[in-house]
Amino acid sequence: MIAAKWIIVALALSHNFLALATKIEADALLHSRWWPDSITSNTSLSHCMWLGILCDDFGSVVKLNIPPQYYHHWFPGHWSNMNFSLLPNLTSLGLPDNGLAGVIPLQICALPKLRHLNLSYNYLIGELPLCLQNLTMLEVIDIHSNHIDSPIPLGMGDLKRLIHLDLSSNSLHGTIPPTLGLLSNLHLLNLSHNDLDGFIPLEIGNCMNLYTVDLEDNSFVGPIPPSLAKLRNLTHLDLGGNSFNGSIPPEIQNLTNLAYLSMEENKFSGSIPPEIGKLKSLIELRLSSNSFTCPIPFSLAHLTNLTVLDLHGNEFDCAIPSKMGDLYSLTHLDLSFNNFSGKIPLQLWSLVKLSHLNLQNNSLHGSVPDFNKLINLDYIDLSNNHFTGKISHNLSIRRGALYSIDGSKKIDGSRRIKKSMQLEILEKNGDFLSIWNYDGRIAYEDMINATEDFDIKYCIGTGGYGSVYRAHLPNGKVVALKKLHRLEADDPAFDQSFRNEVKHLTTIRHRSIIKLYGFCLHKQCMFLVYEYMERGSLFCALRNETEAVELDWSKRINVVWDMAHALSYLHHDCARPIVHRDISSNNILLDNKLQAFLSDFGTARLVNPNFSSNLTANIVGTRGYIAPSEQRSSNFSRMFLLEVCC
Ligand SMILES: *[C@@H]1O[C@H](CO)[C@@H](O)[C@H](O)[C@H]1NC(C)=O
Ligand SMILES: *[C@@H]1O[C@H](CO)[C@@H](O)[C@H](O)[C@H]1NC(C)=O
Ligand SMILES: *[C@@H]1O[C@H](CO)[C@@H](O)[C@H](O)[C@H]1NC(C)=O
Ligand SMILES: *[C@@H]1O[C@H](CO)[C@@H](O)[C@H](O)[C@H]1NC(C)=O
Ligand SMILES: *[C@@H]1O[C@H](CO)[C@@H](O)[C@H](O)[C@H]1NC(C)=O
Ligand SMILES: *[C@@H]1O[C@H](CO)[C@@H](O)[C@H](O)[C@H]1NC(C)=O
Ligand SMILES: *[C@@H]1O[C@H](CO)[C@@H](O)[C@H](O)[C@H]1NC(C)=O
Ligand SMILES: *[C@@H]1O[C@H](CO)[C@@H](O)[C@H](O)[C@H]1NC(C)=O
Ligand SMILES: *[C@@H]1O[C@H](CO)[C@@H](O)[C@H](O)[C@H]1NC(C)=O
Ligand SMILES: *[C@@H]1O[C@H](CO)[C@@H](O)[C@H](O)[C@H]1NC(C)=O
Ligand SMILES: *[C@@H]1O[C@H](CO)[C@@H](O)[C@H](O)[C@H]1NC(C)=O
Ligand SMILES: *[C@@H]1O[C@H](CO)[C@@H](O)[C@H](O)[C@H]1NC(C)=O
Repeated sequence: MIAAKWIIVALALSHNFLALATKIEADALLHSRWWPDSITSNTSLSHCMWLGILCDDFGSVVKLNIPPQYYHHWFPGHWSNMNFSLLPNLTSLGLPDNGLAGVIPLQICALPKLRHLNLSYNYLIGELPLCLQNLTMLEVIDIHSNHIDSPIPLGMGDLKRLIHLDLSSNSLHGTIPPTLGLLSNLHLLNLSHNDLDGFIPLEIGNCMNLYTVDLEDNSFVGPIPPSLAKLRNLTHLDLGGNSFNGSIPPEIQNLTNLAYLSMEENKFSGSIPPEIGKLKSLIELRLSSNSFTCPIPFSLAHLTNLTVLDLHGNEFDCAIPSKMGDLYSLTHLDLSFNNFSGKIPLQLWSLVKLSHLNLQNNSLHGSVPDFNKLINLDYIDLSNNHFTGKISHNLSIRRGALYSIDGSKKIDGSRRIKKSMQLEILEKNGDFLSIWNYDGRIAYEDMINATEDFDIKYCIGTGGYGSVYRAHLPNGKVVALKKLHRLEADDPAFDQSFRNEVKHLTTIRHRSIIKLYGFCLHKQCMFLVYEYMERGSLFCALRNETEAVELDWSKRINVVWDMAHALSYLHHDCARPIVHRDISSNNILLDNKLQAFLSDFGTARLVNPNFSSNLTANIVGTRGYIAPSEQRSSNFSRMFLLEVCC
């Protein structure tokens, strides 16, 4: 009897402790002021029911995952208001694309049970906190697409349970700490698009469970360590856009699961080793823009699953091996900008899956063979060789159809109206009808239909050289069409601007640069297809009293961040720097989350990698936006900050 009473008292007490603990958690959530009054003031709604919150059976908060789409409705983004140390049972913290700014608060290191951390797509600055090493339960760290600019802490190596480490698209600097070699459970390591340098540490070879390694676009140097070949499970290896040198180590043959290998844009040299032929799972092999030389090993022909082979921009000076004809899965073959000699081997014309073939700028000769069999061909460029005879073949390309050059499927509308187009057009200036990288099906007719043949009622603005229309496509997506008027199309200056825009926007990819989905460059129809920006230009937003208030200082700072990153990308991260030459609030567009996108590349220009040259001559564009004292390109980003803040 007495014992039973004690049990009841004990239960009651523990119940009280629990109630107290959950009350503290509820208060912490309330004080964060992340949730709107409409939610927090409803006393019959437990905090466990608030959006993004998951509690365990005892009412303790274990997950806090706020999906991106809520941010612009109510999440204020002041994440310092949340006292994370009062939520000790959190196992998952996910705040991707929540507009978080500032540094990562050290408080998150007081979450000993944390397994999953996702802070990607925010505006975080400063350091990766050293104390992250305390979070030894962590399995997933995803902080990609922020502005973190510190070294990678040595202590990361203590996070033995880590499976997924994505720190890409930040400004991390320093070297890869050898301690990362202790992460034996790691499946994915993505450090791409940072400012990291130094050698790849040998110890990486100890992360035996790695499937994906992406080091693209950093400043790494030195040879590939042979120990990398210990990563038997590796399927994806991207070393592109660095300063690696040396040759491909023969040990690479051990990576028999490799499906994607990119070493493009480095300083690699030597012979592609015959061992490459052992990588039978390879689907994409990208070795472009290096100094690789002949011979090309026969064993390459064993890679029968290969769909993309890109060897452009090397120093190959032999004949194209006829064995290449064995690569029957190829859809994309680029051997351009080498010194390949001899005739095009007949075997090449049996690669019936080819959709993209680029042989330009070599020393090939002979007559151009009949490539009727290449029924899937979307793009072919044979220019700047020594071919003789007349090109008699006509490519059947539907007028105005949108074709893909990114290796994906050809859009088959209805590296029906059929009209013959001379191959020479493709040859002349790399001119092709259109490009496609939109995630859906689309056709020329859809565009015409959606705008009722460019009816004025769909017009949302008139720009420097044409009008912009809003097109609601049958698949539900909305796009913006920029159309050059017939009269203007005859003006070489406008025509040039249009082509310039296509040229630049098809080669660059950045989250703060407007995406070009497709285009039609044809005498009868000149239009560009972009992602649609709901809120129009920054210029207009700042001039409308209601919108200018909504665009408060914190949002304006985000605009500055977005633009500074877009410019830094254009100036420093592109294969060849691009100067936009007309940055103005007219050319900054806002989406419905007030994220900013740089647009209008009509006057942009490539500059020589030698950046110390006089760039004053390269500045054009809107008067009043170009600060006269700022002449050096290295100051461009800073110049821009001044413009927007004033
Ligand atoms: C408060 O929350 C309860 C439980 O979800 C809900 O039924 C009720 O409609 C809410 N009250 C208001 C005023 O939103
Ligand atoms: C955390 O979980 C433990 C075990 O489930 C529980 O005893 C404790 O009260 C919880 N902490 C809080 C603050 O709710
Ligand atoms: C967070 O909570 C802890 C524990 O109650 C407290 O010591 C600390 O001062 C709080 N931090 C802030 C910033 O409120
Ligand atoms: C983190 O969140 C982003 C945005 O929702 C998502 O794309 C990404 O896959 C998430 N990362 C992980 C590792 O789940
Ligand atoms: C991390 O752990 C160390 C010792 O293990 C401790 O001294 C330090 O206070 C912890 N840091 C945080 C932020 O919890
Ligand atoms: C690595 O991150 C970059 C940028 O965040 C992304 O574009 C790329 O697809 C990622 N790589 C892999 C292999 O997932
Ligand atoms: C590779 O993957 C398999 C399962 O797919 C796993 O059993 C193995 O441990 C992984 N690591 C190595 C080094 O093979
Ligand atoms: C490559 O595989 C061979 C045979 O399995 C093995 O002897 C060698 O040590 C491996 N090399 C590396 C660098 O893992
Ligand atoms: C080649 O591709 C086929 C079809 O996708 C697949 O079954 C086969 O396993 C692949 N071969 C290798 C070596 O990966
Ligand atoms: C364009 O609209 C007409 C009439 O509404 C319709 O018959 C036709 O199928 C549409 N074409 C496309 C490609 O959607
Ligand atoms: C200002 O913006 C608001 C909200 O977008 C809009 O309703 C209003 O018509 C605009 N005013 C002017 C003068 O354009
Ligand atoms: C740079 O170019 C501008 C415009 O062409 C010219 O006026 C200026 O003298 C040049 N400056 C130098 C240092 O060459």
